Amino acid sequence: MDDEIPDWLVTGATHVWRPYCQMKTAPPPLPVARTHGARIVLTDGRELVDGIASWWTACHGYNHPHILGAVEEQLRRAPHIMFGGLAQSPAYRLAERLAQLLPGDLAHVFLAESGSVSVEIALKMAIQYWINQGVAGRTRFVSFRGAYHGDTLAAMTICDPEEGMHALFAGVMPAQHVVNLPRDSADELALDNLLSSRASEIAALIVEPSVQGAGGMIFHDYGVLARLRKLADRHNVLLIFDEIFTGFGRTGPMFVCAAAGVTPDIITLSKALTGGTLPLSATIASARIFDAFWSDNPNAALMHGPTFMGNPLACAAANASLDLFETGTWADNVTRIERGLKRELHACRNLPGVVDVRIKGAIGVVELGQRVDADRLCAQFVDEGVWIRPMGRVIYLTPASSLTTTSWECLRRQSQRFCDVGPGRPKTRLRPVTAQGGHSRSGVPGWCRKYDKASIHSIGGRAPGGRRCRHGTAVMVDEAPFALLLHEYVGRCDGRVGEMLDAGHESGRVHHHHVGIGHFNLRRFGGTEDGAPTCHDGLAAEQGRPAGMNA
Ligand SMILES: Cc1ncc(COP(=O)(O)O)c(C=O)c1O
Repeated sequence: MDDEIPDWLVTGATHVWRPYCQMKTAPPPLPVARTHGARIVLTDGRELVDGIASWWTACHGYNHPHILGAVEEQLRRAPHIMFGGLAQSPAYRLAERLAQLLPGDLAHVFLAESGSVSVEIALKMAIQYWINQGVAGRTRFVSFRGAYHGDTLAAMTICDPEEGMHALFAGVMPAQHVVNLPRDSADELALDNLLSSRASEIAALIVEPSVQGAGGMIFHDYGVLARLRKLADRHNVLLIFDEIFTGFGRTGPMFVCAAAGVTPDIITLSKALTGGTLPLSATIASARIFDAFWSDNPNAALMHGPTFMGNPLACAAANASLDLFETGTWADNVTRIERGLKRELHACRNLPGVVDVRIKGAIGVVELGQRVDADRLCAQFVDEGVWIRPMGRVIYLTPASSLTTTSWECLRRQSQRFCDVGPGRPKTRLRPVTAQGGHSRSGVPGWCRKYDKASIHSIGGRAPGGRRCRHGTAVMVDEAPFALLLHEYVGRCDGRVGEMLDAGHESGRVHHHHVGIGHFNLRRFGGTEDGAPTCHDGLAAEQGRPAGMNA
């Protein structure tokens, strides 16, 4: 095992702004060296079984040779060419294949680079559909509680306003109608009434069919989709399915719409479209939609065209991924995973704190009664050799369908730990080397302890560890699972780091310290009368941060 933290992480971490992340307090990211199968190999040599397939994208596992080969070949031929006025076979073949796979007359494929953008395009198509028909004022949408459709501005408005991570942006964009899914006759009637009174301003309904993913992994049955189709038809509004999460076999069938026998007017796909290798999305419209844009009038054209639209590399990857789907083995694999998830996760029902366990296809969800301390639990899972990132109140598994028995075994063993999140449970699994605590050099008893290197690696602060933990010394602050690893700083600062932290803590000015790679944040207690800046300056310089960081 290589203990060194890579230089690129040390220097780059000051500059990289990470997703969904409070940069100040989040534990540092784990540096990845490579991937294979369902596994992520870290730069220190540890291997993690990926339980979530990189946000549900890597459906065939990582580095599938068939996809790699197709991308390599296309890379030599033409990595990218603009889509305006030029055509290339990977994109045109992909469009034809998607049209053949999808039900009904969903046959008109608009390619883009991300799920959120494909949703934006779907919304734009729906609005312009009405404009092109000469119908004014149909600019709003109906979406559903629990929904997540992406992070771009318009996509945010159709996410669940409370659960959808975008509450801060309320009021920035026009509000949409976010209502209950018509699971029962009462909610069906409520939606019917809404559409009766407001249809003249509504362009479309949009739903993640069968599973609302990032909004909480909430399931519904196909009957809901049939009801939506019926109501959309009754009130003459369009129906959009966002199958970015559910498409390509995640729930069992290749596409929910085909399995449910409900064809939307527009569908969005992304995530597993390229087998999780390259960014690509598709917004696919039915003939009814496309025909409304088919005109001698240039203003009736869809005014959209991302620079990397139809990128040949991404399309080559998607075609190769579809080849793999054509072999059909994925379906048996998903069934096998579903069986395994049912067997293992159902046992979690009896664990304290669990309110629900649900499984659909290659999706396994354990829902708790309270929000999960995601960072802490994630660190525990990493300790055990798996990559699982809980979200809100749910811990979920969405592994690659190609998961091997050995990898499955690793994930399986973790399922019983899904509830190890309640208050009072051990936050970390540290193994102090010195039983009495207290570090001889900093002389701060209680919260400054010496740990063995393996322990330091096993806590959330592993990333700052690496190169600085050679002396096996960590400072735990407020028992947070982060380590301030002293290493030569102890010598250089002559024990002052510990004193500074202690002083700050006692004065109530230090609530939480997080020391990450390139993020040696001593701001809270910096600039104290005790001359701490000497030490800060040294650290700041080493970490590549401006010396004024401690001001
Ligand atoms: C159903 C659904 N729609 C849209 C998106 C947004 O996709 P992207 O993150 O590629 O923008 C996601 C991403 O999780 C999703 O699950």
